[in-house]
Amino acid sequence: MRVIIETTADDVSRRGANFMAALVRRKPACVLGLATGGTPLGVYAELIRLHREDGLDFSQVTTFNLDEYVGLAATHQQSYRCFMQSNLFDHVNLAPAKTHVPDGRALDFHTHCRQYEQRIQDAGGIDLQLLGIGSDGHIAFNEPGSSLGSRTRLKTLASETVRDNARFFGGEDQVPRLAITMGVGTILESRQCLLLAMGKGKAAAVRSTIEGPVTAQVTASALQLHRDVIIVVDEDAGGWLSRRDYYAEVEHAQSLLESGQFRALGIGNQ
Ligand code: PGA
Repeated sequence: MRVIIETTADDVSRRGANFMAALVRRKPACVLGLATGGTPLGVYAELIRLHREDGLDFSQVTTFNLDEYVGLAATHQQSYRCFMQSNLFDHVNLAPAKTHVPDGRALDFHTHCRQYEQRIQDAGGIDLQLLGIGSDGHIAFNEPGSSLGSRTRLKTLASETVRDNARFFGGEDQVPRLAITMGVGTILESRQCLLLAMGKGKAAAVRSTIEGPVTAQVTASALQLHRDVIIVVDEDAGGWLSRRDYYAEVEHAQSLLESGQFRALGIGNQ
């Protein structure tokens, strides 16, 4: 896992957006896995800026969102479809038919979840999956105890998640109790994962994810099994990491390599 510790939350957003924009430039018909919540807001704002000011072109991009609340219509203000429309889709040139968010009002959830997985396959799989992390260590709505091989399905929200998300609904009693979510197994099939975290409230979950054991009690820790993961955190979210110095050394070596300063790395000195 590549661990990048940035100074501020804005730096995390910019770094995350740059990874995504680089992929879109390199592979215009790429498949992006997208996330909702407070974490990706700055990323989406930066992608919109890059679209407007630098002409970043989303016309061939396909997107799949991680999850959706059960019971909310796409037009409900707190639905994740609505979140994506107002925070990204309505402001860039994505083709509406190429944006996918699970349907929280599907009548046959089993079939809908299976079809969602099939659509990901049919699109060629997800190239880059953007992820936030819950204070309980979840990715998407894969709450503690979720199978690490799980697929898209219905999931009951944990009480921590209901509490965390109450701010968007005006009270815990308004938060839906069920969601459709990609599984941990679905996420692990993405070619690359990009997990972002900001703020002190995420510090414990970030530490468990990176330096703890792989466990279904912290579903983000399953990313340790993935071969291409980038985790970008701010100082607060990375505050509990014990190997911070090492992660910084790796990043330093990486930037020397990328800028061709091989001698500084001891390459070609003999
Ligand atoms: P947040 O949620 O981005 O609103 O902090 C992250 C998550 O629950 O996955």
